[in-house]
Amino acid sequence: MSVEIKFVDAPLGHEIQGVDIAKGLSDADFRAIEEAYDRYGVIIIRGQKLSPQQQVEFSRRFGPLDRYVLDKYNMKDWPEVFIVSNIIENGKPIGLGDAGRYWHSDMWVTRNPSRGSMLHAIEVPHDDSGKPLGGTWFISMQAAYDALPEDLRSRIEGRTAVYSGKKYVDFRKSRTPVDPKTGQMSADDRAGMEEREKNIAPEISHAMVRIHPRTGRKCIYYSEGSIDRIEGYSREESEQILDALHRHIMQPQFLYRHTWKVGDIVMWDNCSCIHNAIGDFEWPQRRLMHRTTLGNPAPIFKESGVMETVEVRR
Ligand SMILES: [Fe+2]
Repeated sequence: MSVEIKFVDAPLGHEIQGVDIAKGLSDADFRAIEEAYDRYGVIIIRGQKLSPQQQVEFSRRFGPLDRYVLDKYNMKDWPEVFIVSNIIENGKPIGLGDAGRYWHSDMWVTRNPSRGSMLHAIEVPHDDSGKPLGGTWFISMQAAYDALPEDLRSRIEGRTAVYSGKKYVDFRKSRTPVDPKTGQMSADDRAGMEEREKNIAPEISHAMVRIHPRTGRKCIYYSEGSIDRIEGYSREESEQILDALHRHIMQPQFLYRHTWKVGDIVMWDNCSCIHNAIGDFEWPQRRLMHRTTLGNPAPIFKESGVMETVEVRR
């Protein structure tokens, strides 16, 4: 078997072809996949059928794994596999239904955010005409960094942003639809929100520009609705910079929209891109994904001269 890498969409979506992960990958094929992953930030491998064990084994070839912070939806037998799903069984959600419906880098709530994530599509929702729903959008933060206007670049380089757990939960609540009759969010959404409130740290700080530990590329580090302030600026200045940064990042030339098919594996790099899960479907349209999370085994960003991720304050 030999791996082929096909350009899908600028600047970060790339499809890996000629691969059947369940049958095993040679070291050379694996290296080609990892290199594409590091270089582009998002890779897509279609037509796979992996058991949770096979997904964990493939994920471990990239290094140690993290467990997702909401342990409730980690698989009992394979706790490295986190269930992303809106499916209700026996009156209870089997996974987190509203996962990731905002622009973010995974695991920013932790001191040393994960290297990246892998999502395997088991069930994909679709509308009555068969059109797939529940896409995932990605933005290249290395392309966005490279295109920063000089004045904005100089305002964020070397700076630290303080993320707020309360601000984040309030932001997510403001984005979650409510039943017009009751004014309440769905039981599934409420469960996810309660888990977040229980698990999130009040404040955590991250560098605004990071050096990718494997490629040396500079990347903007940003998750929307979560940053309370940039240290060293007045609140007003901080808000202005964050607004300008958000507008800059959201430009279409940095964007890849992934339309899911059953059997897809999509991997994204949490340093070089952010993503957003599109919530354009609802139960009984079924979505089931298995996610694994790649850890960051080495201390990172030390050589960058850019501020490092700093401590959780409790
Ligand atoms: Fe995510």
